[in-house]
Amino acid sequence: MQAKILVIHGPNLNLLGRREPEIYGSATLSEINEMMTDHARRLDMALTHFQSNHEGEIVEAIQTAEETFDGLILNPAAYTHTSVAIRDAVLLLTMPVIEVHLSNIYKRESFRHRSMLADVVTGQIAGFGSGGYKLALIAMAELIETPDQP
Ligand code: DQA
Repeated sequence: MQAKILVIHGPNLNLLGRREPEIYGSATLSEINEMMTDHARRLDMALTHFQSNHEGEIVEAIQTAEETFDGLILNPAAYTHTSVAIRDAVLLLTMPVIEVHLSNIYKRESFRHRSMLADVVTGQIAGFGSGGYKLALIAMAELIETPDQP
């Protein structure tokens, strides 16, 4: 059966393309979503994309995710570094969760070095630009096919 994956993009990612392109690249969010949908189809996965600038909306989307989806790909953007609420919501899930960052957060300002999510997600991908989302899809397909990998 086709796996259903929720992709959540956090605050300011709606402005990709014109937001600090030297850090985040020139692809817009819709271009990234299209590229992902296309790649997911080849991996026999169906994607639903959700973007929000509001922490509570992201929390609510995570809370109900397991009712419909088999995995979550999440770029919490700035909330990565601050949100206990998003961390707590992720802790509710038993399905695979992959944290993605376009930039390598460990090469940037020190306040970006800490992720509130890193130790509660299945894995993290950072620093590969929009290509990181493709890597996340490949990892997700593997996780769903062989869930018991260490
Ligand atoms: C980001 C990194 C965060 O530090 C930043 O606040 C973002 C985007 C990334 O994808 O590189 O908005 O999550």
